[in-house]
Amino acid sequence: MPITFDESTRCFHLQNDRISYIIRLAAGRYPLHLYWGRRLRAVSDDLLSRLCAYTDEDFSLHETPLDLLPQECPTFGCGDMREGMLHVLHADGTHALDLQYVSHEIIDGKPALPGLPSARGEGAQTLQLTLRDSESGLSVTLTYTVWPDVDIVARSMRVTNGGASPAVIERALSACVDFEQADFSLLTLSGAWARERGIVSRPLVPGDQGTSTARGASSVQTSPFMALLAPNTTEQTGDVYAFALCYSGSFAASVHVDQFSMARAQIGIQPFNFSWTLDPGDSFQTPEAYLCFSPDGLNGMSRQYHALTHRHITTGRYAAAERPLLINNWEATYFDFNEEKLLALARCAKDVGIDLFVLDDGWFGHRDADNSSLGDWFDDVRKLPDGLAGLSARVHAMGLKFGLWVEPEMISPDSELCRAHPDWCIHAGSRMRVESRHQLVLDLSRQDVRDYIVEHIGAALRRAQVDYVKWDMNRNINMWGSAQLPPERMRELGHRYILGLYDIMSRIIAQFPDVLFESCAGGGGRFDLGMMCFMPQAWCSDDTDAHMRSRIQYATSLVFPPSTMGAHVSAVPNHQTGRITPLETRAAVAMGGTYGYELDLLRLPQQELDEIAALNRRVKSMQRLLLYGVFYRLKSPFEGNETAWMSVSEDGREAVVTHVFTLAQPNAKPALLRLVGLNPSLDYRDEATGRVYGGDELMHHGIRIEVPWNDYRAQQFHLIALDS
Ligand code: GLA
Repeated sequence: MPITFDESTRCFHLQNDRISYIIRLAAGRYPLHLYWGRRLRAVSDDLLSRLCAYTDEDFSLHETPLDLLPQECPTFGCGDMREGMLHVLHADGTHALDLQYVSHEIIDGKPALPGLPSARGEGAQTLQLTLRDSESGLSVTLTYTVWPDVDIVARSMRVTNGGASPAVIERALSACVDFEQADFSLLTLSGAWARERGIVSRPLVPGDQGTSTARGASSVQTSPFMALLAPNTTEQTGDVYAFALCYSGSFAASVHVDQFSMARAQIGIQPFNFSWTLDPGDSFQTPEAYLCFSPDGLNGMSRQYHALTHRHITTGRYAAAERPLLINNWEATYFDFNEEKLLALARCAKDVGIDLFVLDDGWFGHRDADNSSLGDWFDDVRKLPDGLAGLSARVHAMGLKFGLWVEPEMISPDSELCRAHPDWCIHAGSRMRVESRHQLVLDLSRQDVRDYIVEHIGAALRRAQVDYVKWDMNRNINMWGSAQLPPERMRELGHRYILGLYDIMSRIIAQFPDVLFESCAGGGGRFDLGMMCFMPQAWCSDDTDAHMRSRIQYATSLVFPPSTMGAHVSAVPNHQTGRITPLETRAAVAMGGTYGYELDLLRLPQQELDEIAALNRRVKSMQRLLLYGVFYRLKSPFEGNETAWMSVSEDGREAVVTHVFTLAQPNAKPALLRLVGLNPSLDYRDEATGRVYGGDELMHHGIRIEVPWNDYRAQQFHLIALDS
């Protein structure tokens, strides 16, 4: 049984074959956090007795022991003086909450969360633990799910107002874990536009630390994820405790190290600029957090998150399928295109073995630059005389699939939509509307706005007979305000926006079950598990430079598998950095994600087109392995001059290894790269060179990497086991 309850000890033991998560009801009433880590066969008296002083019938808030105890659902100012998971303003102006056990239920599977994306529960079991504050009537249901096939505990919380007066939730997080020690490093991802997700790690110190955003999106600046690393943790060894949130809006992930060097780790919706009025009888559901324990270092953690994503998060026809090789016209033409130019590009793409032609920004309204027309989703017949329908039919006739860029959540001040509905954007009363990229954000908390988007985007996608959609979102929210929300609910806007986004995505995607959706947010500005529940891939960064991309994708792989990372070969000199890298390297790096092109093929010499055709054949022959293989990071670009990663088939018989030297070094001897995840008893042949290596040799000695004579040189090995 994955979840058991022992009446005599009042312990819940959540487990699979490898991990345990144990909760104890102190004095039968307060859920304390007893253990999370490698699986324990049983809960010993010794483990129980560590908390025993506080678990007898005399347990009382008068003695304020909660400040000393690891808890499952702490609240502030009622025995515990640390910031908790839930902070509620009662009608009388006070905040105290004394949450005590009422009941629990252990169920097979995993209930969906109302209005929010969540992982599916194939083979899972779920504990729902209900607590209640008798004074106010407020109750809390903590939900925990464990699966047999991933070493992850999913957590979320539902708050219900069972009292007679409205209550205002000021903070409602998804998960809290109190560690009894703080001897960890905190790893987070931080970045900027075109420099998304760099790895940042530092030792915990007393006080508060973490990462968060209040921009209304999970953002390019950070990522809804953090990991606590035991001392000396490496990619392959060491205990890692990680937290990832299934949410696309403002979030906070924090660790507080207290007076006794205990570490409280929490993750959830960003409490700053948030509140939610809960009328009597109403409930508030938090997003889901995924708590991953890995005794096998950071690679072990990533393998769990990748497995979760593939097995329980991504849905739809493409979730487990190979992806079409695409060409996107953005960096080839920007806004300057017409049908003739697009068709010439498509024809050339077809000739080199590309499967899908994607028309990016600029096909609607009178959008010749980024300063108009968002919201006016009708075809620009100056550029496309027969509209999307005509273009798509011609592309399809070439034997290519057709894809389209949309930015449904935005509105340009210069648009018919904005002139007709000036109050449909997010704005703060009559204050100046602060634009970014000449655009404003539609108020997705409004039903009329959502209905407009579903109708007009749906019509464009139907007209274009799309096979693929790139769903973009190019700015964050400021001048927060909604014309429809009453003043006391204005701080609900950020979360209501995200609920509105999830609503329109569900409704549109349901109409196009066979279409591949890729999310995008000015690059990787909403690269989170919430979006992955709807769209199996996301544009990783607007930076297409191979050197920068190898860093961004390397760090992104901490949580997300290659199948989720949109990655394209682009022109040199690169449009973001001016850097010149070899085609082979640009391709090897793009093979670390969902492969495509973003350049004007018509400008390339025939020899390069031939190389591209050969690369496409190579990608197709290895694509399943590249996207869904077991992924390992080998050399970090954040630590040295080399970057390396590999994917291995589930049965260990096939692997693709990619190594990139950043800068060439004169007079250097060849490097050795140790591989992992192979079968030591098998021999492997490299498809490119024909050389044969022992699996044990590759893992214990390494594979020889030639030191290149020029910068940014990639080497790739495709290893296939020989029949013994
Ligand atoms: C964003 C995207 C780009 C491109 C442009 C179009 O920046 O990330 O890939 O689609 O918008 O305006």
